[in-house]
Amino acid sequence: MTANIIWFIVLAAVALVGLRFVFKLFRPFGGIRRTVGGVLLALVSVVVGLVSILGLMGILTIYGSRGTPVQAVTVAGTAEQIARGEILANAMCSGCHTVSGELPLSGGEELFADIPIPLGKATPANLTPAGRIREWTDGELQRAIREGADPDGNILPVMSANTFRYMSQEDLDAIVAYLRAQPAVETDIPQDNYLSFVAMVMTPLGMMPIKDVPDFGPPPYVEPGATAEYGEYVVKVFDCAICHGDDLGGGPGGILPAGPSLAGAKVWTSDQFITAMRTGVTPAGLTLSEDMPWKDIGKLDDDALKAMLLYIQQVSPS
Ligand code: HEC
Ligand code: HEC
Repeated sequence: MTANIIWFIVLAAVALVGLRFVFKLFRPFGGIRRTVGGVLLALVSVVVGLVSILGLMGILTIYGSRGTPVQAVTVAGTAEQIARGEILANAMCSGCHTVSGELPLSGGEELFADIPIPLGKATPANLTPAGRIREWTDGELQRAIREGADPDGNILPVMSANTFRYMSQEDLDAIVAYLRAQPAVETDIPQDNYLSFVAMVMTPLGMMPIKDVPDFGPPPYVEPGATAEYGEYVVKVFDCAICHGDDLGGGPGGILPAGPSLAGAKVWTSDQFITAMRTGVTPAGLTLSEDMPWKDIGKLDDDALKAMLLYIQQVSPS
């Protein structure tokens, strides 16, 4: 945070000094060189000034307090919760919070390294009882997962981009039960996450995938089973739409891969869909690329996958 405030001060000072010199340069009948120099300097100063203002807006957003009040929940940690939590954590968290893709969630590889813009660092934390979450209450942990805020209200930028806010209280309880039941794995992956000044400037422009958390309370419980209703829930929490578009009719691409329309999958049988998600091979005999997270999705149980297909058949355009 200090570095970003210094960036703001330096840029704002450069802009002010620049503008001051513009007024010194401009004189009536001062000659063409002074006029051209003055105009250029004015432009540069205004641009630097605007960047510093955007940066300040980003600083106020990012370092402002985040999250709704922490709920007083205590997760029982029954065997049933742990078992369900393990399936969910394996499918939804292991892609980032592990290096190998295998449980336990002992921390993953820095994610911003692959993005060609200097955004800072985002290393998925060690979520075993050896990580810092061992000191958090169940309510604080659930708020972190659902709203992307740590116990002090600091933003967890990548977590805040997730759609885990739509997870039912029951599923969130199951995940926390599993996190607590993992073996404590010590690691030496550094946890020096930060957001750069570039990220501060991008925030007010809406270019950082940081989502507001609507205070709608815990989303309703959806009974797990091979139903379109449960499929809608899984598709929403898993955020298939982020790549495949809002109605699963094809995504726009950009920083994320452009997922195709899922209309083609409507004619697949449940078995074909399950095979595609578990092996990456579609009924047409094509192998899905790594851009499609089929390896993670395939870790869900059969009912969840059948449910997804039922939902795709319902919404995806023909
Ligand atoms: C897209 C990658 C990604 C996925 C998927 C993901 N996380 Fe994270 N998570 C991160 C990163 C990166 C951080 C570090 C803070 C940040 O940048 O948001 C983090 C931080 C956290 C933290 C804060 C821990 C700490 O010590 O600060 C918790 C709790 C957490 N994640 C839980 C989960 C759970 C539970 C799941 C699955 C339901 C999950 N995450 C899925 C990337 C991810
Ligand atoms: C990170 C982006 C991303 C996410 C998230 C994602 N997909 Fe995909 N998906 C892709 C891409 C890219 C392809 C095309 C892969 C290829 O052709 O090799 C694809 C292909 C598919 C296909 C094959 C379509 C066909 O006609 O061959 C299905 C089915 C599918 N995705 C379903 C899903 C479901 C269901 C979810 C959510 C649970 C999901 N995807 C989440 C990127 C994504």
